Amino acid sequence: MTHGEPNPLESPVGAGRRFPPSAEFTAQANAHPELQAWAAADRLGFWADQARQLLSWGTDFTEVLDWSAAPVAHWFGDGRLNACYNAVDRHVEAGHGDRVALHFEGEPGDTRTITYAELQREVSRAANALVALGVQTGDRVAIYLPMIPEAVIAMLACARIGAVHSVVFGGFSAEALRTRIADAQAVLVITADGGFRRGSATALKPAVDEAVGSPAGAVGPVDGADHRGTTARNVLVVRRTGQDIAWTPGRDVWWHEALEAASDVHEPVLVGSEHPLFILYTSGTTGKPKGIFHTTGGYLTQCAYTHLNVFDLKAETDVFWCTADVGWVTGHSYVVYGPLVNGATQVIYEGTPDTPTKGRWWDIVSKYGVTILYTAPTAIRTCMKWGEDIPGGYDLSSLRLLGSVGEPINPEAWTWYRRVIGGDRTPVVDTWWQTETGAIMISPLPGISSGKPGSAQTPLPGIAADVVDEEAHPVANGSGGYLVLTEPWPAMLRGIWGDPQRYADTYWSRFPGIYFAGDGAKKDADGDIWLLGRVDDVMNVSGHRLSTTEIESALVSHPMVAEAAVVGASDETTGQAVVAFVILRAEYLDRADEIGEGADVAATLRAHVTKEIGPIAKPRTILVVNELPKTRSGKIMRRLLRDVAEHRTVGDVTTLADSSVMDLISEGLHTPPPT
Ligand code: PRX
Repeated sequence: MTHGEPNPLESPVGAGRRFPPSAEFTAQANAHPELQAWAAADRLGFWADQARQLLSWGTDFTEVLDWSAAPVAHWFGDGRLNACYNAVDRHVEAGHGDRVALHFEGEPGDTRTITYAELQREVSRAANALVALGVQTGDRVAIYLPMIPEAVIAMLACARIGAVHSVVFGGFSAEALRTRIADAQAVLVITADGGFRRGSATALKPAVDEAVGSPAGAVGPVDGADHRGTTARNVLVVRRTGQDIAWTPGRDVWWHEALEAASDVHEPVLVGSEHPLFILYTSGTTGKPKGIFHTTGGYLTQCAYTHLNVFDLKAETDVFWCTADVGWVTGHSYVVYGPLVNGATQVIYEGTPDTPTKGRWWDIVSKYGVTILYTAPTAIRTCMKWGEDIPGGYDLSSLRLLGSVGEPINPEAWTWYRRVIGGDRTPVVDTWWQTETGAIMISPLPGISSGKPGSAQTPLPGIAADVVDEEAHPVANGSGGYLVLTEPWPAMLRGIWGDPQRYADTYWSRFPGIYFAGDGAKKDADGDIWLLGRVDDVMNVSGHRLSTTEIESALVSHPMVAEAAVVGASDETTGQAVVAFVILRAEYLDRADEIGEGADVAATLRAHVTKEIGPIAKPRTILVVNELPKTRSGKIMRRLLRDVAEHRTVGDVTTLADSSVMDLISEGLHTPPPT
């Protein structure tokens, strides 16, 4: 097959087109073909070399991996280092103090440029301020901030003194914050008066006041016995919006006053490689969020290694932009630790992509000359929905590499991303990983891999992943199963904070001795890995296993569809039935009369899915909707769609970015379902 021609045999959704790297890209790529052979020949030696090459150690390690306490790993266990020193100070010492670390773009249009030398002074002041507030090495600090430089500075300041940060996404409620503070027994909360979102100032401090409780409850010994379930003694408040806020004297402290009073010199505290760096809460299959915790040396090694090789980072010339908020793991590993440890220049942006216009992201790319962009398929599909004229109005020629993360990227979105944003030129890396894995695990390597739309392709050198059947046997090429990680990796979680049993049960009991990621996957004829979504999103229709993702991909491959979500609704006859919710593209909505609404659209799409995958995958019901219910991190909440599809009362909508979406969708159900 020649390059550029789809191979209809390769994929049911016509994703056969391959995108080999250009000779120019390969010639300058960081990743070398020998990496794989090197890692395969001596995996531990490979990681030890990465750790020594990419990080500066205060005390070198003698042991690479201790797996005797499995499933808790110890990597580089007797080494000592400091994460903040690695992310900041050493770059200044190496003469790069004038390099821009952060280009900050506030949503209202205010900007700040922070060099590595300035970052060093700011984190030193912040570290001294934390110490002045009584925060000690090993204490936990909750961070509840908008996407502003202080979020990065606060995280680094914690790392600098060996305190463990627990970042709570600013979109979470007071109750979510309270349970996280209580679970980690945080002694301090760092927050802001508010932030800017969708053109106006939103408040953050009231949620902290509610979470931390009254002054009487908050001040006093840290004994964990506070009846409000919180142990925070102080609240450090960044002034971002200038809005009025309630103030609790003795407990609340202004960030700028605390930093002004502090020295800008601070000696980073050396900690052991296995010293906890952060806790990050993520949802599991039960209601209680899991406090995933990561430690220092192994985590930083893999963040730096992946950032360098998967994003081909050239610290001197690249401008890296990961659009994730620091409230998620992507923001931890690819806004803070990976890029800064590698001495990168990056962009951080406070607001949403459509404020004040739908061209905001592309304006930022051209303004700062962003060279590497890392975002989520949901964002890409949203941009597709808005139409390509919008990015088409900006100069995106600085971009040389695009990344995707968070959910399977359907081939249609992949090729749109490369063509419209990447100018038909850039490699696209679809990176699979999780909060638990800490850093990227499965991804193409730019300059080496031929891009394959829709596939995350291969485990990175040094990573052992496979797709297995119910009995943990690797499946043959062309078959599907469960994604597992078969060897410990440096950035792996070290547990669930305070709950070692849950850690063992959740990840290590389905296949004893093997990490079960919770995702379904298949290997194609080449052995490349395709993620099929969480296993609980896999449907069984008349005894046939179907992936929601695969059907969504098929729907989105129709030119009329911008976005689609598929759920399995219980069905008396077939066990489960496919119900699809679709958003039509703007250009087709305008021509709704021509193509017909309701039944015609549904009939067209059902025929299309039948053609792409087969009659078994044909949705029983297709609902045309204007929005899909998404969490604030952009994940589609299929659980809620399942409620709608099964005519149940819609469940808990508190984690939705916009809770009115469900009303709109439920209303749609009152129109008779198309046949
Ligand atoms: O189902 C996989 C999906 O996101 C899950 C992890 O979610 P979280 O811990 O929130 O981390 C997201 C950012 C790393 C995985 O179990 N996922 C993540 N990346 C991909 C993906 N699914 C398919 N393709 C990906 N590239």
